[in-house]
Amino acid sequence: MSIEIKNNQFHLRTKTSSYIFCVLSDRYLVHLYWGEKFENDVDLKYNADEYYRWRCGTYPFYDENSTNLYTTYDLRHEFSVVGGGDFRIPTFDAKYKNGSTVSEFEFESYKVYDGKPKLCSLPATYDEGGDAETLEVVLCDKLTGLKATLVYSVFEEYDVITRSIRYDNCGNDSILLKSCQSASVDFIGTDYKLLNLQGEWCNERSVEWQKVGHSIINIDSKTGMSSHARNPFLVLADENTDEYSGNAYGMALVYSGSFSMTAEGTSFGYTRIAAGINPYDFEWDLDKGESFQTPEVVMAFSNTGLNDMSRRYHKIFRERLCRGKFRDMPRPMLVNNWEATGADFTEDKIVDIAKAAAKVGFEMVVLDDGWFGKRDNDLTSLGDWYVHKTKLPKGLASLVNRVNEMGLKFGLWFEPEMISADSDLYRAHPDWCIHCDGRRRTEGRHQLMLDLSRDEVCDYIIKVVSDILESANIEYVKWDCNRNITETQNNSQKHKFMLGTYKVMEALVTKFPDVLFESCASGGGRFDAGMLYYMPQTWTSDCTEAVTRMHIQYGTSFAYPVSSMAAHVGKMAVGFDKFNGPMDTSAKVAMGANFGFEMDLSELSETETEQVKGYVEQYKLVRETVQFGELYRLESPFETPYASWMMVKDNQAVLFAHKTSTRNTVEKRQLKLKGLDKNKQYRCNDKIYDGETLMKLGFVIPQDSKGHMYVFETI
Ligand code: DGJ
Repeated sequence: MSIEIKNNQFHLRTKTSSYIFCVLSDRYLVHLYWGEKFENDVDLKYNADEYYRWRCGTYPFYDENSTNLYTTYDLRHEFSVVGGGDFRIPTFDAKYKNGSTVSEFEFESYKVYDGKPKLCSLPATYDEGGDAETLEVVLCDKLTGLKATLVYSVFEEYDVITRSIRYDNCGNDSILLKSCQSASVDFIGTDYKLLNLQGEWCNERSVEWQKVGHSIINIDSKTGMSSHARNPFLVLADENTDEYSGNAYGMALVYSGSFSMTAEGTSFGYTRIAAGINPYDFEWDLDKGESFQTPEVVMAFSNTGLNDMSRRYHKIFRERLCRGKFRDMPRPMLVNNWEATGADFTEDKIVDIAKAAAKVGFEMVVLDDGWFGKRDNDLTSLGDWYVHKTKLPKGLASLVNRVNEMGLKFGLWFEPEMISADSDLYRAHPDWCIHCDGRRRTEGRHQLMLDLSRDEVCDYIIKVVSDILESANIEYVKWDCNRNITETQNNSQKHKFMLGTYKVMEALVTKFPDVLFESCASGGGRFDAGMLYYMPQTWTSDCTEAVTRMHIQYGTSFAYPVSSMAAHVGKMAVGFDKFNGPMDTSAKVAMGANFGFEMDLSELSETETEQVKGYVEQYKLVRETVQFGELYRLESPFETPYASWMMVKDNQAVLFAHKTSTRNTVEKRQLKLKGLDKNKQYRCNDKIYDGETLMKLGFVIPQDSKGHMYVFETI
């Protein structure tokens, strides 16, 4: 039993953590504790009782069951609203029929059950074979009849808790929802640091820490996508927390649209974290009898530092968020033609690339943008998902068969959520794009977005993508998305677009269970937990330059498993010094995730071909460990001139130890490894080492500017 209820207190226990809250005064849900696990029974309500402090601007009330005095501003809430004197960012904000925004939710009931419910129309973690236990707590705003059901699922073994909220309008009038956060947690203290994975196109998910103090820090996206700029993930940590010690509290939102994660430090010495759909341009009419479901937040605590927290995310995302037959399968090594040819190719050119790919042992060839409509550049044809007659005169099946005959699988690029103004689809349905009547339709990369809040648009996309997938033996789809939402007709459209996108994705991944789907949004513009529910991997970034890539993959690993990161050696590696150090470093960086190439292999010399063949052979030997092993970050490129990490699985450990600077130094570099068996010996490059020695004394890495990969096998 991971959920226990005693003395009006709800105690949620994972393998190493406890999360506790209570009902106060028969009304409020008051947060009491999130941290290291309590093995024994505890009664923490005294902690809420002892915290009444009068100040100008607080509004006292007496507990209905005692003489205790409280103020809502000095309570730590599980669910907070507008009104009553708690002036912090609310979990919930709405406008009722009388124009007021005041809510008064009171505790009504709870239930506990085995398993975990599916979230209506939204991606979420799932229970498999009794992994989870769920607590639902119902609150009711008696005046309006609006109910809020707070859903907590405990994945005890995975060491995580998930939260979401469902609103049911059981009253007589419609209600305008203005802000529906998925969860908020009030921490004691303000001396925390906050991790934000920030970035831009070609430089996604850089690690950035800032102090909370008494400020409001908002990590958000207003773009309709989770975005390149900020990621729907944060960590609140004690000031001295590092990779292997200290408290770290992670919150990851399972959502791919505009989001908001806010940290608010208050003068009373609390920090509130609230996470959910961005209220900035959100509104939702909730009619009588209707329900609204918020996205899910996945919460992971570690008192042994950031790395353990990340490993909890890796495991639950890999095993209980990703789905389908590829979830646990080694991901194919592929060659993608985009950086090699762009949209300028013929059937024979792709076959040439495939021949070269087959020769060195790759497993799949992916045809990127430019195979459809009249798409010779990015001015045209999105939405016209039928084969480009001049480039592929014999159709897709002819190309796919030729590729398959070489023993390679075939993959194809789509950008299903988009429409070009110059397309047959737009000419037939100019109203099918997201737009605001009477306003300009802002184009991004010369394209508009389909209004997937409309059923007929979703049905069309499902049909045309299905027709292509059924027309040939296509075993992988790269699902791209290259612009944001700029003008909407109303404030519910962005969320409705997201729900429509999820609906289309669900229909297609269900219909084509044998196709591996990879998400992409101009590289890593939509690398989030929501996407992983439909597609178990993501194109991490359009940047394939080795040093920037080290940073991107390192930052991404704070929340997302290695098996979800696609990493290719591309032209950017070749640009500055063909096929020596930099190419080798790029290959070593790409081998630290789902390995592939983005170049015209048919142009390589004999020596270069041998070099690539070597990488393919090496990767085959370590793929299982890299993709599914336990990840340990060792040296941060954001803090040191190095980028090092390692993966451990069964009898193998793979170490990646790169240098990010070309500075010449003789300083000794001795890296203490992690996660090995201290009682075993390991062989690496024909030398034998004790596991304990490697972890305590370390392993010597040469001080050159190349990337390094070492494989350790137990003997
Ligand atoms: C953006 C993607 O990130 C690239 O990999 C490539 O697929 C292009 N789009 C194609 O237009």
